Amino acid sequence: MIRVPVLLGDRSYDVLVGHGARHRLLEVLPDGAQRAAIVTQASIPWSVDAGIEQKVFTIGDGEDTKDLGTVEDLCRDFARWGLTRGDVVVAVGGGLVTDLAGFAAAMYHRGVPVVHVSTTLLGQVDAAIGGKTGVNLPEGKNLVGAYWQPHAVLCDTETLETLPPREYRNGLGELAKYRFLGAPDLLDLALDERVAACVRVKADVVASDEREGGRRMILNYGHTLGHAVEAASRFELRHGEAVAIGLVFAAELAWRLGRIDRARVDDHRATVAAYDLPMHIPPGIDLDEVRTFIGRDKKAVHGITWVLDGPSGVEPVRGVDPALVDECMEAVRA
Ligand SMILES: NC(=O)c1ccc[n+]([C@@H]2O[C@H](COP(=O)([O-])OP(=O)(O)OC[C@H]3O[C@@H](n4cnc5c(N)ncnc54)[C@H](O)[C@@H]3O)[C@@H](O)[C@H]2O)c1
Repeated sequence: MIRVPVLLGDRSYDVLVGHGARHRLLEVLPDGAQRAAIVTQASIPWSVDAGIEQKVFTIGDGEDTKDLGTVEDLCRDFARWGLTRGDVVVAVGGGLVTDLAGFAAAMYHRGVPVVHVSTTLLGQVDAAIGGKTGVNLPEGKNLVGAYWQPHAVLCDTETLETLPPREYRNGLGELAKYRFLGAPDLLDLALDERVAACVRVKADVVASDEREGGRRMILNYGHTLGHAVEAASRFELRHGEAVAIGLVFAAELAWRLGRIDRARVDDHRATVAAYDLPMHIPPGIDLDEVRTFIGRDKKAVHGITWVLDGPSGVEPVRGVDPALVDECMEAVRA
């Protein structure tokens, strides 16, 4: 088992990565936890044994489930069961389950501890770590949420054996991202090491900027356009696929701004290609709609903040000419 600490003072926790990590659940539960509310989905063929009294709460599947209505349903179920702050919520699933159960845990009784048992590649390298929780509104993804650090995270690589190939590819989009954020070349590593290498980068960034005051924004590399394209595709494109397109777009934009050379753009394209991910905005996606979704990006405080590669690495960049953005969108259009 590989142990990666996330250092956040009295909210520090460990991420355990490895085959069968879910069997370590009892040892990572908060001291004295009496009962565990297990939140999962019917389509996830893995169960956990918390080693204390537990009850399973099953939520639906798909981004439509990730809304305030499901949070309310879950909190009402918790209340009927009598869950208290001395208990624990255990999220068993991908990013959807950990985002939603994490948010419900943050809200219920003004906060109960949550442990994430992540069962998707995207969840293990990204969503389960760092304490961002939340749900969607019809107006956009993840527009309502809270920072709520988990008590521990278990990344059980055995659970990835049943992950549908498309979901696996989806996680590869985030793996590709870490290549530009300081992770070593991951393609030659064993799966546990690959996941742990990404977790180390994420843990380091989160520890230095928990609430996205600055550096944490680099984790959104490829995401500003990615989120917009994902939403404009009505979630036909999976998150990781949209991020892959966003990485190539970001490289094109950085090149047009003179921040990187053409070889670095090619490096982005080669990395995305190595993971067999898309690098073009598919036909049928309305670019006007993509622009609208970009404008709603949570980082759009005073204009859009892009996250772009450059001489000192990936960093937030403001004040980019919208005409250049349009040019790059055309450049990555199929
Ligand atoms: N909080 C964050 O920092 C963060 C970061 C990135 C993404 N996210 C969020 O994560 C969500 C996407 O997460 P995801 O890609 O993990 O998708 P997901 O959670 O929707 O899971 C995809 C599908 O795989 C199924 N599944 C999960 N584990 C399985 C397994 N081991 N075997 C078989 N099927 C399994 C699920 O039931 C679901 O049908 C999005 O809502 C996104 O906004 C959050």
